[in-house]
Amino acid sequence: MSSASVNPCSLRESLRYLNWVYNPFQSLDVAQVYDLLSTRGPTERGLWLNLGYWREAGTLDDACVAMADLLAERVSITGADRVLDVGFGFADQDIRWVQTRAPRAIVGLNITASQVTGARARVANLRLNDRIDLREGSATVMPLPDVTFDVVTALKCAFRFRTCERFLAEAFRVLSPGGRLVVADILPMPTASGWGAYLQQRVSWAMVAGKFPIQKENIYTR
Ligand SMILES: C[S@@+](CC[C@H](N)C(=O)[O-])C[C@H]1O[C@@H](n2cnc3c(N)ncnc32)[C@H](O)[C@@H]1O
Repeated sequence: MSSASVNPCSLRESLRYLNWVYNPFQSLDVAQVYDLLSTRGPTERGLWLNLGYWREAGTLDDACVAMADLLAERVSITGADRVLDVGFGFADQDIRWVQTRAPRAIVGLNITASQVTGARARVANLRLNDRIDLREGSATVMPLPDVTFDVVTALKCAFRFRTCERFLAEAFRVLSPGGRLVVADILPMPTASGWGAYLQQRVSWAMVAGKFPIQKENIYTR
């Protein structure tokens, strides 16, 4: 590629991305990480940002859909439910749930402004604005009234919240009596036996927890 054809904007973005990945002294807050990852998600269909559920899936796209379906099934989303989805990414799971479960309404809450804008455009393209209401805001200080929802969902995001416990208190506040909560989260595996496996586990956890970043308070055992 000749130097004249390099897009300075994407070059700058690529350098920022490499700096974030490889520079051990570089750490970004949650919204900065997601602004950086932007819409370059690892999936081919949709813009999913989770690691998926792999029991039957053969691709990451299928695994992400399976994960969204598993959450909906575990929390039994029905046509009667008002759902709050926190940390919605680009709203792939909300679009899926509207199409497969037809809840009464979905409100999404996400701290990353660029994702809110992108997700709203996707929802508008599908003419689902009257079913999915996407808002910018934090899962730990929800700009929402008490006793408003039947279901709260958090798909691969609660480990990022400052803190997960504050999110749980907020979820309890906005849920109606008898409301349901479902969370798919990243947790450390039980300690591996053998020095090699133990070391590999500690190093990989430290890298993930340092980059994304995961608060110490959010580390729960299974
Ligand atoms: C790993 S992504 C998961 C996105 C989506 N649920 C999915 O599975 O594709 C984590 C999401 O949580 C959001 N997030 C992180 N901290 C948040 C907070 N305190 N309140 C609301 N959203 C938050 C990020 O902006 C991002 O959209």
